[in-house]
Amino acid sequence: MNPEQLKPQIHAWIAALTSLKQLIEYRNSLVGKKGTLTEMLKNVASLSPEEKKTLGKSLNELRADVEAELAKKEKEIREQELKTAENRFIDMTVPAKSHGRTQHPIKIVQSDIIDIVTRMGFSVWRSPTVTTEFDNFDALNIPSWHPARDMQDTFWLTDRRVLATQTSCMQNHLLRTQPKPLRAMVLGSVYRNEKIDATHDIAFEQVEGLVVDKNINIGHLKGTITTILTELFGYEPRFRMRPGYFPFVEPGMEVDLWWGSSASDGTASSGKGRWLEFMGCGLVHPNVLRQADIDPEEYSGFAFGFGLTRLAMIRYGISDIRLFHENKIEFLEQFTV
Ligand code: DAH
Repeated sequence: MNPEQLKPQIHAWIAALTSLKQLIEYRNSLVGKKGTLTEMLKNVASLSPEEKKTLGKSLNELRADVEAELAKKEKEIREQELKTAENRFIDMTVPAKSHGRTQHPIKIVQSDIIDIVTRMGFSVWRSPTVTTEFDNFDALNIPSWHPARDMQDTFWLTDRRVLATQTSCMQNHLLRTQPKPLRAMVLGSVYRNEKIDATHDIAFEQVEGLVVDKNINIGHLKGTITTILTELFGYEPRFRMRPGYFPFVEPGMEVDLWWGSSASDGTASSGKGRWLEFMGCGLVHPNVLRQADIDPEEYSGFAFGFGLTRLAMIRYGISDIRLFHENKIEFLEQFTV
């Protein structure tokens, strides 16, 4: 067979190609790894020296010719496709995609909280990533011998510094530097040496509220929590306050949320659901006030703290905490504002 005879046929095929996709497929079938011409060239090796010379030469020529022809066609097709795209009619009156801007679910709950508490007269702060052992523990009435330290498996740095384990670590700073009466909210990432699973991560987001004024009582605390939760959920959720121990508040309490399968199940009148531990709170311990040179006879206050990561999981029904840090576009695209 003379490869020269194949040429007109191949040229005709190439001339008939109309898209890049076709062109690539055809190129592969001819000169790709397993292409016809490639195979033919491989077979040349087994021929006699004489045949090798003539057939090898003309096959190589054919391949060069085909490659050049394909390159020419590719350029032509690309130019054509560009022209078609330019000429495509664009209807400017079609509305943009109907969904809003996507935002990370943690960011959404953070902005919601900021929105709510700034309307209530709170200033908003961010807790540091690295803080001191003193601010994170001692100032919060948790001295080095205190068993409460063991509850927060801490990442220790050098110089008695730690990765903040709780946004409460801002309390001392706020009490010392801010004028009284004080209403402050702290947002921040906190870090604990956890074994990572669906509900535990080594980094998560918290918020802390701190109010100091004269004659503060539990009624103020409960009223504030009720308002914040109602605004957050869009209805007044059913919750209970029960005694809980935190060294920096006295009395200390935990707030449980009644969690139903739908929003209406979560309201005060509903029977279906279960209790979810949601936040810690209480009246600021006199030792914490004293530590910041505030006279507990003159001022009193309340504090509360909860996990924003937890809140986002509850609000959106997210069952695995690891999803927040995985940067999976399919996950992130579901959250719009
Ligand atoms: N910092 C606590 C924690 O991470 C939560 C907390 C409990 C904050 C009681 C408070 C509080 O302000 O009064 O577990």
